[in-house]
Amino acid sequence: MGDLGEGLSHYLKQGFCSFHTPGHKGRQEFFYGSDLLGFDLTELPGLDMLHSPSGIIAEAQKRAAEIFGAEETFFLINGGTVGNQAMFLALEDTASKRVVVERSSHRSVMSALVLSGLKPEYVIPTIHPDFNLALGFDVETQQIPWQEVSACHVTYPSYYGTAFDLNRLIDERTRLGSKTPILVDQAHGSHYLGPLFPPSALKLGADIVLHSSHKTLSALTQSAMLHVQGHRVSRIRLRQSLELLQSSSPSYLLLASLERAGEFALDFRRWECLQEEVEELHRKVGKSFRILSQKDAGTYGIHTVDWSKILINTLPLGVPAPRCVEYLREGYGIEPELWDEENILFMLGIGNKPEDIRRLTKALVSLANYAHSIGFSELIKRVGTDRSIIPPLPQLMLSPRDAFFAHKRQIPLKESLGHIVGETISPYPPGIPLVVMGEQMTCEVLGMLLTAGEGRWQGWDGFKSQTIWIVEEDKG
Ligand SMILES: Cc1ncc(COP(=O)(O)O)c(C=O)c1O
Repeated sequence: MGDLGEGLSHYLKQGFCSFHTPGHKGRQEFFYGSDLLGFDLTELPGLDMLHSPSGIIAEAQKRAAEIFGAEETFFLINGGTVGNQAMFLALEDTASKRVVVERSSHRSVMSALVLSGLKPEYVIPTIHPDFNLALGFDVETQQIPWQEVSACHVTYPSYYGTAFDLNRLIDERTRLGSKTPILVDQAHGSHYLGPLFPPSALKLGADIVLHSSHKTLSALTQSAMLHVQGHRVSRIRLRQSLELLQSSSPSYLLLASLERAGEFALDFRRWECLQEEVEELHRKVGKSFRILSQKDAGTYGIHTVDWSKILINTLPLGVPAPRCVEYLREGYGIEPELWDEENILFMLGIGNKPEDIRRLTKALVSLANYAHSIGFSELIKRVGTDRSIIPPLPQLMLSPRDAFFAHKRQIPLKESLGHIVGETISPYPPGIPLVVMGEQMTCEVLGMLLTAGEGRWQGWDGFKSQTIWIVEEDKG
């Protein structure tokens, strides 16, 4: 085996308990009867074709549409990413050249802007002061220019499981008699079926809805679904967009896993027993940490909270989140989905078992006791310092597409004020861009970049050399 294979085997041997994607959590039960090697086939006679299905793939997609409440469902084998991209390419009425998107959208939305040439009309998320994260979207205060845009794209729920009042947004469109399509990135809520979870965007009346089925359901990584209903978006254009973007060699393993994930999604009992354990976790450690819960509904643009995402803020404990993660990983084999300086996200999937949550609860109780016993209070000093994560919006000078294809050069970061930035730079997590390609560098963004510490950056080539790509402007 090579280094990659060795690395994976070594990781597996450590026996971590998964609180991250994929949702199947490595449980064989989701794949009984599947012949992993045997099913790895190409489009042979009788096996149908993903891009023009009329046989077994068409039937599986039809069944998925029934399960999730869509009029039509497309299986995706390039992740949820390709779903966001295809939605934008499928838009026909693009005379306005503008589309509403949240500034906190996933980066696949930013790449959809590059591919489609559409210009963003940003909605700014509400930052929750306790978590310093974009958890809400206040529909009441945000003005959507319905008549001036080709579509309104929203994320429901957020990565952290908070859902804004999508119903109200859809009602507002109806009240205004607008035909503008509402496109929903429900990547983190493929499991929204039945009474335990917020209503699905399809149920609320969205036109296109994306599910990253691998995140919380049992589908294999990279498999996702795009659901559509109504007539606001052309199905033909959607199909053509997917054909343009997706592989010509679709993996049958992914497709078959999507088919089965739909059936397993109907087994609500799997989630019921997890919910009871999560409630117990809140009872046992809710005083030591600030944990996001349904009690937060109605505040900071949050309408409902999905209990299956356990978001813990470690400020009350006085311990930086990365230190807590170290403790949980090394002492209890707990592997979270992500963390920043003060928050940790534990993500449940349909493959989790009640004992996983009991293990997490035990680990958190132990962490809290340990922190109290040594009188840890490192983080507390940080409260009150500037924690802003979204600077004022820089001016858009070029569409992301024009900026992507423009001539560019790298210059020292400190000389970039006023230049058109040629790359999109986001600290991760949470992945909200400080600046998007095509925007003019501002004092605020520059200040944040110049003082940025080591960390994970999406799309900043020049962090180490303190340089930045700018668009070469025509002096003539
Ligand atoms: C909100 C959101 N949308 C879309 C995606 C893309 O999904 P995928 O990773 O399946 O390509 C992600 C991935 O993390 C996401 O968080």
